[in-house]
Amino acid sequence: MLKRAVVTGASSGIGAATVRRLVEHGWRTVAVARRADRLAALAEETGAHPIVCDVTDEAQVAALAREVVDGGGADVLVNNAGGAIGVDSVESASNDDWRRMFEVNVIGLRTVTAALLPILRDAARNAPTGGGSRPAAGGGIDDAHGWASILNVTSTAGHAAYPGGGGYNAAKFAARAVTEVLRLELAGEPIRVMELAPGLVHTEEFTVNRLRGDASAAAATYENVTSLTAEEVAAVLVGALEQPPHVNQDLIVIRPVAQSSVFHTHRGPLEARA
Ligand SMILES: NC(=O)c1ccc[n+]([C@@H]2O[C@H](COP(=O)([O-])OP(=O)(O)OC[C@H]3O[C@@H](n4cnc5c(N)ncnc54)[C@H](OP(=O)(O)O)[C@@H]3O)[C@@H](O)[C@H]2O)c1
Repeated sequence: MLKRAVVTGASSGIGAATVRRLVEHGWRTVAVARRADRLAALAEETGAHPIVCDVTDEAQVAALAREVVDGGGADVLVNNAGGAIGVDSVESASNDDWRRMFEVNVIGLRTVTAALLPILRDAARNAPTGGGSRPAAGGGIDDAHGWASILNVTSTAGHAAYPGGGGYNAAKFAARAVTEVLRLELAGEPIRVMELAPGLVHTEEFTVNRLRGDASAAAATYENVTSLTAEEVAAVLVGALEQPPHVNQDLIVIRPVAQSSVFHTHRGPLEARA
């Protein structure tokens, strides 16, 4: 097993926490995002290999793939780059906002996946798993080849629509559909395709970006509720990658207990009923 993971959207939030967690667990990582300064700081801290790349730019993604090969390939791709813009109704939304959400959450995910799939296949074809990473109970018929994994970070917004969700709901529903199609298309290959759909995660930039820089409105989203942290999501994500390689967790939904659905966020302390 190579244990070399490419993580997109690694300059903040869930992506940065995923890189940190992977490195702590002995993985080599490639950290991908647009902001070079933040990637450089993460690289300095963790030893991750930073690659500046806009996932919506096909030439930059092709260059990313070449650099991943030059650095020794990869057996894991975490498609995490994404985000929301606005909370406008379908009627009042801007098509430009919708296009940007589709570009990063859907088309960027597809572009990176298509560019890195040959690299992941090389790992799945060539790298013997070895090292006890297969359980004896697995039967042993797949011991002669390696494995690879693709894990797409979608959202509970990809599973339930809500007013004002518009473009983000549509983009994450689409990202979820792409994940399911890919799993079917890769059937018969030793490549896992997994989806992680988080609910409310208190990351520093996601809601500020969504609310177009309104930091106080963004802060109100997390007021009086114990949300998930990026580190908690990363722990679950890395846990899925570290399952025996034939174990494909198709869909992992992770929410704070205080959020029982996209419509039900309990604010204030949780209390056991008498
Ligand atoms: N926070 C939540 O409540 C929540 C809930 C469910 C799902 N999610 C999803 O989880 C993922 C991470 O969210 P987060 O909360 O960690 O958000 P975040 O802190 O805003 O991180 C988004 C990351 O994506 C990168 N990115 C954005 N556009 C990009 C592009 N065109 N090319 C390359 N990188 C790009 C950003 O880096 P640069 O700006 O440097 O490029 C940043 O590193 C997203 O897909 C989001 O939709 C978040």
